[in-house]
Amino acid sequence: MDRRKFLKTGAVAALGSLGGTASSLPPHFLWGAATAAHQVEGNDVNSDLWVLEHLPNSMFKEPSGDACDGYHLFEDDIAMLADLGLNAYRFSLNWARIEPANGEFSGAELRHYRRVLEACRRHGVTPLVTFFHVATPRWFAYEGGWESSTSVELFARYCGRCADHLGDLMGWAATFNEPNLMKLLSWVALPGGVRLTDVMAKGQADARQYLKAEKFSVFLGGNADIMQQNMLLAHEKGKAAIKAAHAKLPVGLTLAIEDDQPDGAQSRFEEKRKEAYASWLEAARKDDFIGVQTYTRQLVGNGHANLPAPKETELTQSGFEFYPEALEHAIRYVSQQTGGGVPVIVTESGVAVDDDTRRIEYIRRGVDGVKRCLADGIDVRGYLYWSLLDNFEWVSGYGPKFGLVAVDRATQRRTIKPSATFLGKMAMGSQ
Ligand code: BGC
Repeated sequence: MDRRKFLKTGAVAALGSLGGTASSLPPHFLWGAATAAHQVEGNDVNSDLWVLEHLPNSMFKEPSGDACDGYHLFEDDIAMLADLGLNAYRFSLNWARIEPANGEFSGAELRHYRRVLEACRRHGVTPLVTFFHVATPRWFAYEGGWESSTSVELFARYCGRCADHLGDLMGWAATFNEPNLMKLLSWVALPGGVRLTDVMAKGQADARQYLKAEKFSVFLGGNADIMQQNMLLAHEKGKAAIKAAHAKLPVGLTLAIEDDQPDGAQSRFEEKRKEAYASWLEAARKDDFIGVQTYTRQLVGNGHANLPAPKETELTQSGFEFYPEALEHAIRYVSQQTGGGVPVIVTESGVAVDDDTRRIEYIRRGVDGVKRCLADGIDVRGYLYWSLLDNFEWVSGYGPKFGLVAVDRATQRRTIKPSATFLGKMAMGSQ
């Protein structure tokens, strides 16, 4: 028996006899970390975002470049995750590689993702696979992206093809990562009262003009209402296509859920919740699980905007309030809104900080909240930290550090942070 298996078995035995801290966790609880293709793979040259990153006056601080070279280093990364004691890995398929042109699927790239899944299985790691995580193929964006009604069939076809080739090795499948993100971001006001989503829409309009492509549309710039309409349908059709290939594979989606709290009697936080989550939570009632992704709380006053975090509060590199209890509140909210019958997986929760002791604190308090939810009978199946690696944080480039593992981007050397060891030990029941 290798060291890892021995530790896992030993930890389980110890818990059995002592009733340790993890005794409230169900067997097969998923402990892991998450990544997304565009953020770690590198050289995602056929994606819509690669186009945006290279425009003059791009809204991206820097291009994604080699990222963490995860495309080549996946085997080592998965082995590292397993060695830490974690048993689950969430990653996304890269649509831009798998379908480089409309209707043209790459067998070589499908085999690549098969090798990624096989690596997970070899290391005793359950793979949670996301089919869309922010980036799309550039041809899809040129054809109108999620703003075009053709997106529904295009996405379903891609889902079906991937499930045919890869579904047998997947543990859980999520059609979408945070399809509600743009709705949520419409509640973010920038200094001067400008809405963040208006700035993003302007970025898309500028891109259209520069590219002389009037339909060019990206998830981070499209009209949130139109995209939501199409994505709700695409989720249903995508799920059906996955199920047609593998009926037993659990399929769901993940949502960005903030811990919205009212500030003042006239707070519009219920309106925000309705706008940002309601349609998706309704859709999720028919799914096999729901992925909760929570980073912070947001105070909502009487305007159509989040309020700034309270004065003197600790802020993370993302400008978020350091507030690990948000996770527990979000799980409770989602469970209640979905009628309590849909299993919940924390598919992302994380914090961008340089001081790794704060990350440990964030994880500890977040997981304590998960345990309280479980104790109250909420069916939580796993906790996946965002992110395994310090990676490409979208428009913010490589500044914010969310990772359990640091990456030297010149050498691609990985350095395990104490928080990674902490989470791994917790997974093995010894924290
Ligand atoms: C996204 C990740 C992102 C993380 C931290 C989530 O909204 O799914 O891709 O890196 O938040 O901002």
